[in-house]
Amino acid sequence: MANVAVIGAQWGDEGKGKVVDWLASRADIVVRFQGGHNAGHTLVVGEQTYKLSLLPSGLVRGKLGVIGNGVVVDPEALLAEIDRVRAQGLQVTPETLRIAENAILILPLHGALDRAREAARGEQKIGTTGRGIGPAYEDKVARRAIRVCDLAEPETLAEKLDDLLLHHNTLLKGLGADTFEKQALLDRLLELAPRVLPFAEPVWERLDEARRAGRRILFEGAQAVMLDVDHGTYPYVTSSNTVAATAAAGSGVGPAAVGFVLGIAKAYCTRVGAGPFPTELHDGVGTLLGDRGHEFGTVTGRRRRCGWFDAALVRQAVKVGGIQGLALTKLDVLDGLAELQVGVGYRIGGETFRRLPAGMRAQAAAEPIYETLEGWSGSTRGARSWADLPAQAIKYVRRIEELVEAPVTLLSTSPERDDTILVRDPFED
Ligand code: IMP
Repeated sequence: MANVAVIGAQWGDEGKGKVVDWLASRADIVVRFQGGHNAGHTLVVGEQTYKLSLLPSGLVRGKLGVIGNGVVVDPEALLAEIDRVRAQGLQVTPETLRIAENAILILPLHGALDRAREAARGEQKIGTTGRGIGPAYEDKVARRAIRVCDLAEPETLAEKLDDLLLHHNTLLKGLGADTFEKQALLDRLLELAPRVLPFAEPVWERLDEARRAGRRILFEGAQAVMLDVDHGTYPYVTSSNTVAATAAAGSGVGPAAVGFVLGIAKAYCTRVGAGPFPTELHDGVGTLLGDRGHEFGTVTGRRRRCGWFDAALVRQAVKVGGIQGLALTKLDVLDGLAELQVGVGYRIGGETFRRLPAGMRAQAAAEPIYETLEGWSGSTRGARSWADLPAQAIKYVRRIEELVEAPVTLLSTSPERDDTILVRDPFED
């Protein structure tokens, strides 16, 4: 039985929530493997609306949720989210949620540094979520981070805090921000420890057992390929690898365990935060896409930047992300537009490119090369079969498949779970 990894193929917010929810209902275990509470999606189940940032979506469907070692865990945010969803009636217990004992913790000093640095960058700011994601990953590779398992060792916590504060207070002072005091941090961590530790375990072992027992595992990516720290629009990226290969390293399974890689892309394109966005629209069409698509961040509440579908970009995401099938979402937002543009490459200083070059200035200067496609007058909203779609909408989807060099295996036509055209079940691959 194949496992499935779901990753975003643009800059995030592709509508992963609905697709992941649908797949979670067919999986036994849902695993988060990177990112932290910078992610966010809304799940509507019956009368309840759940807003999840850190918890794997499968919990909503009563499936075992696993937070892998590749995730950065803010214990305050984790416990607040658990309390919030419990108040909505969800069971979150050590039986339904497991957290890798070797996952990295985000402390208040990480958020403080994230925000102080963004403020100091002024015009050059990345537009981070300010939740300490970058600084926590920096501490991980610098080998000074506190991990979930350290909560069981007060001496280790005390030693690591010395090391962390030496580094962070120096930086915070230099940035003119408030510094942190060891005892207060230590006391708080020791207070949180008994609430977090019951969830901790070597999740690689559980996943290994699950795999051998033929359980279906869904690896739930956060952010998206163009925010990947290696393959994205660096430095306007998040601080983790978001490609499907990370599902293995970020949860402690081998690459062969990852299974089918499903990429999610909107039928147009959005971005939050700063950074290059060649097909961005600054006109009425951009506003229309934003209004119709309700393009506001789940975590930040910020209005998302909107533009045409960039097939060159998604093709790149398909290649580096190992995407085998694409779930195309929000096709209905394009309903009624007479003409549609699709980015097929870039013009930079007289040269043309089929991919986005890596250089920061080249990316900023990239002018999209468009192919114009005819729009459709009918509605695609709520369509559940190809027969329900206007002919031009089908042509649009087919052209996207050709350009990005990946099949559309799932088409989502409204926020409703059942308004989906399934071409191929990724779990059956
Ligand atoms: P960070 O992950 O908070 O460091 O933010 C780095 C960049 O990633 C910023 O441009 C954020 O807007 C973006 N980002 C982080 N998480 C998400 C997400 O879940 N959706 C979309 N963009 C995100």
